Amino acid sequence: MDKIDLRSDTVTKPSEGMRKAMYDAETGDDVFGEDPTVNKFQEYAAELLGFEAALFVFSGVMGNQLCLKTHSQPHDEVICDAESHIFYYESGSPAVLSGLQIFPVFTPDGILTPEAVLPAIRPKEAYYMPRTKIVAVENTHNRRMGKVYSIEQIDTLCGFVRSHNLIFHLDGARAWNAAVYLGVEPKEITAKFDSVSACLSKGLGAPIGSVIAGTKEFIQEAFRFRKAWGGGTRQLGVLAAAGIYALQNNRERLADDHRNAQTLAEAIANMPQFRIDAQRVETNILLFSHTSKSPEEVINECEEKGLRLSPGPIGTVRAITHLDVSKNDIIAAIEILRKV
Ligand SMILES: Cc1ncc(COP(=O)(O)O)c(C=O)c1O
Repeated sequence: MDKIDLRSDTVTKPSEGMRKAMYDAETGDDVFGEDPTVNKFQEYAAELLGFEAALFVFSGVMGNQLCLKTHSQPHDEVICDAESHIFYYESGSPAVLSGLQIFPVFTPDGILTPEAVLPAIRPKEAYYMPRTKIVAVENTHNRRMGKVYSIEQIDTLCGFVRSHNLIFHLDGARAWNAAVYLGVEPKEITAKFDSVSACLSKGLGAPIGSVIAGTKEFIQEAFRFRKAWGGGTRQLGVLAAAGIYALQNNRERLADDHRNAQTLAEAIANMPQFRIDAQRVETNILLFSHTSKSPEEVINECEEKGLRLSPGPIGTVRAITHLDVSKNDIIAAIEILRKV
């Protein structure tokens, strides 16, 4: 029997419908801008995210890094939450690829507020300091249990960032989940930013790809850098077709993943050997700990019993629901956890 894989929402396999769309895709040479499916995908993604233009990129890291590069000059600084993906998991690339320094800001829940950001903004006259250029938000927040910014929180931070003439970037790897959680169109939470990077190969189930969006001019410049970084490819339409399929068919069903995560969190909360703050589960990411076993012990024991989990931030085990996990899989996962 296949194991139930809750390590990440990146483990999904392309469905039959998606593979058929890829098979049928019309293609051309995308370095010449001639792939009709890529062009269709980019127009559609730009419209969904509320921007003039969009660009297919190969990963969430590539999307974030291209946006940071395109917005900045070496010696500039990016303010991020200290638990953000850009600070934690992108290999120090802002320093290497763009000559940028990150200013990590500590927050109780991953939500950047004007009060948290203000002390990190460098005085303009301080020529001996890096120049504050970008404020980067993560929504939903990976290391903060899939936490979602409310519309008010985004609006307040946006007004503050604009009043300081800074660039507002969104790492929206899971912005689709945030939109479903809030019951709004994606553009309502993305279009207030200067740029967004959003993943296709997480909850949306595409095998490869992310998309970045911004003004036409911004995307033209990012297109140059994508080529410079070896990301100019030819008959990309086979992947863009999976992206179109994912955006059309797999966004609304993210609500199922959120329901499954809630069911799992509530069951774990009722098991005396585990600790979880089930109230905090808003989307598809759960973090929990065992009262006497280490995360590695829990992960190994579950693996033997047919449930795959991964280590989360300090002392926690992480479970992520996704489109290849059914309600019955969640019931089976609960039974396995009960025995740990
Ligand atoms: C919030 C966030 N941003 C960016 C990424 C990077 O995506 P990729 O693995 O496609 O590079 C991830 C991946 O998990 C993520 O969770």
